[in-house]
Amino acid sequence: MEAVVRYAAENHDRFLEELKDLIRIPSISSSTEHKDDVDRCAHFVKEIMLGIGLESAEVWQTDGHPIVYGECLGAPEKPTVLIYGHYDVQPVDPLDLWETPPFEPSIRNGRMYGRGSVDDKGQVHIHLKAVQSWLKGTGTLPINLKFLIEGEEEVGSKNLNAFLIDNQKMLAADVVLISDTSMLQKGVPSICCGLRGLAYFQIDLRGSKQDLHSGSFGGAVKNPIHALTEIVNQLKDEKGRIAIPGFYDDVVDLVPGDREALAQLPFDEEDYRKEIGAAKLYGEEGFSVLENLWCRPTLDVCGIWGGFTGEGSKTVIPAEAHAKVSIRLVSHQDPETVAALFEDYVSKIAPPEVEVSVQRMHGGLPFLADTSHPAFEASVRALKKGFDSDVVFIREGGSIPFVQTIDEVLNVPVVLVGFGLPDENAHAPNEWFDMENYEKGILSSIYLYDELSRI
Ligand code: BES
Ligand code: ZN
Repeated sequence: MEAVVRYAAENHDRFLEELKDLIRIPSISSSTEHKDDVDRCAHFVKEIMLGIGLESAEVWQTDGHPIVYGECLGAPEKPTVLIYGHYDVQPVDPLDLWETPPFEPSIRNGRMYGRGSVDDKGQVHIHLKAVQSWLKGTGTLPINLKFLIEGEEEVGSKNLNAFLIDNQKMLAADVVLISDTSMLQKGVPSICCGLRGLAYFQIDLRGSKQDLHSGSFGGAVKNPIHALTEIVNQLKDEKGRIAIPGFYDDVVDLVPGDREALAQLPFDEEDYRKEIGAAKLYGEEGFSVLENLWCRPTLDVCGIWGGFTGEGSKTVIPAEAHAKVSIRLVSHQDPETVAALFEDYVSKIAPPEVEVSVQRMHGGLPFLADTSHPAFEASVRALKKGFDSDVVFIREGGSIPFVQTIDEVLNVPVVLVGFGLPDENAHAPNEWFDMENYEKGILSSIYLYDELSRI
């Protein structure tokens, strides 16, 4: 092990330069304009896999963006670990708010800035470099290792389920390991044992064939923007509960043990409020901030548009109005069931004067881990050694759609060991990754593969 740790330490600066090369590729999965870049990124990841000494690595085409799969199966008596992550990134707008361009990575004050630096290129890179340190430092790995790095996580992992079903034997493993989440705070290594799911919609309203003069027609027609706000106002009640009938039927309630465990975590609601700069926090009545973020479903309008928003004034009744709505789900809610309930409810409450349609966008299942498997204890030991600090069990409010699927299909423990921080601006301008966590992440992963060899 000493040689492995030494290799990582001696090559640290080189690793950082290589991470920059990965961040330089604008692999925005949601944008057709970047299709070639996404493709290029997949091949780049494959080349890294071959360069670090894996036995094989290949780019697999799908109906969407490619999947990169690589393996090193040189330890027949030992467990097999499948590492899942993603090389695709979110869009970068608004571009003018970035201090340095999103795809020109730069290190400032111990932070690597750039789109994908933490979500998820930097965290995938941690594992690639930890594996490299084993292979180049000692010539072997203590476990069998498989890498599954996809290019569609940020758009709902649409083609990954079919890939998993078609290649179950190739992907079979004893443990799935994922680094695409955050630590509770700096210095507190964290294992994530719950993720929320997602159901995402666009609501489109039409009030007339075309825009109308607000003097000639105002008073005779229903304005679709008003109709939309009436709908939006009825999505949640005054207690912050989602008003869709039947919505809570499949929600697993918090049990006293969960509540105590969350209450004991080092998390201060007032510090959190100040950090996000909100005048006052808001959430479903009767639940703490962490309970609301991690264990309760929620609904948010992500965007709303329609009518005249240009300079000056224009007296018009718009023909259309639109909104994007995200609903975060918890176990055992199902995005399809929730989508049907949402569509029924929206068409029921829509004012009769407008035509309404609901488009289903991407979704994903929520996830809750059973932490009794020895892989969790092994991960605690490795993280404790890597960070020299006690480990906490947390959940995340975000979603990784593939996690519940792979848990169900492989029926093995899925361990989410995250090296991000909550304030690293994932999906926002000036995304960054803490370079101390990158380094300690590599060290912890080196220990983790060793720990997992004995489960
Ligand atoms: N890395 C995130 C998941 C995550 C979010 C972890 C928040 C920790 C905190 C992942 O890349 C992501 O952003 N997922 C999307 C999924 C969606 C687009 C289907 C999300 O949660 O919005
Ligand atoms: Zn993301």
